[in-house]
Amino acid sequence: MRTQLDTLVTGALQHGSAVPAFTCYDFTTALAVVAAAEESGRGAILLVAPKTAATPNGLRLITALRGLADAAGVPIAVQLDHAADPQVITDAVSAGADSVLVDGSSLPYEDNIALVQGVRAALAAQGRADVVIEAELGGLAGDEDRAFGTDVAEEPAGLTDSAQVEDFVSRTGAQLLAVAVGNVHGKYKGEPRLRWEVLQDIAVRTRIPLVLHGASGIPAEELVKAAAMNVGKVNFNTELRTGVLALLEEQTTAHRADGENLQALLGHWDASARTFAATALATLSR
Ligand code: 13P
Repeated sequence: MRTQLDTLVTGALQHGSAVPAFTCYDFTTALAVVAAAEESGRGAILLVAPKTAATPNGLRLITALRGLADAAGVPIAVQLDHAADPQVITDAVSAGADSVLVDGSSLPYEDNIALVQGVRAALAAQGRADVVIEAELGGLAGDEDRAFGTDVAEEPAGLTDSAQVEDFVSRTGAQLLAVAVGNVHGKYKGEPRLRWEVLQDIAVRTRIPLVLHGASGIPAEELVKAAAMNVGKVNFNTELRTGVLALLEEQTTAHRADGENLQALLGHWDASARTFAATALATLSR
């Protein structure tokens, strides 16, 4: 069913839970995520990568996800992830995305704010003031779509500066805030080291929910602590891909021999993504 992403996340936080978000490059994965969410009776978020949204077929995928989300038995949001191109953002919203991470984190501070404000104004001018905006302060290392591994640094660059949080949130009007606290996109080389003291310092400076990107590789016992620090949304991508690709690699030969049985192979894809989503939902739920 349709939901406002901020309402979904705030509601989860009130129960000490966080909502998982999963990158969907395709419809098979999205179906599996929604099925897992329905089985658990909890809401979830379908993330669309900006490279996906930048293509005509990607926009058609967003429209298909919109239909899937609206027909689901639990609240499902469709979010355009990490977008900085205003055209891609407006196209994705027109196609059916109900929320956007307006990502100016690689820009100087004032430009980051101006980007978020500009997108907010453009959406309002289109009559889409309802679109929920997440903004990002601080920069994450790693690639969003390909996982090559990032060294775990003692003092990671790009940590969110907690002193900027109040000003950033009030001037951008962001409804969720993505933070950099030692998390990275892709794989961690070594044990991930989240900077809980930075997260704590951020959490006391704003009431809007925080978002933890780069959750793949962070142990479940760490992730469960996040909601207590107002982290209401946790983003997964790499681990989901790892599981699906490993199973496809293992199963493809047998399924080719079984009369080029793509249908059964897709069943394995579904099972892998569904199990991953179910585990994340259970981990983050209280
Ligand atoms: P991972 O690929 O590290 O899980 O990160 C996903 C993410 O943050 C999507 O925005």
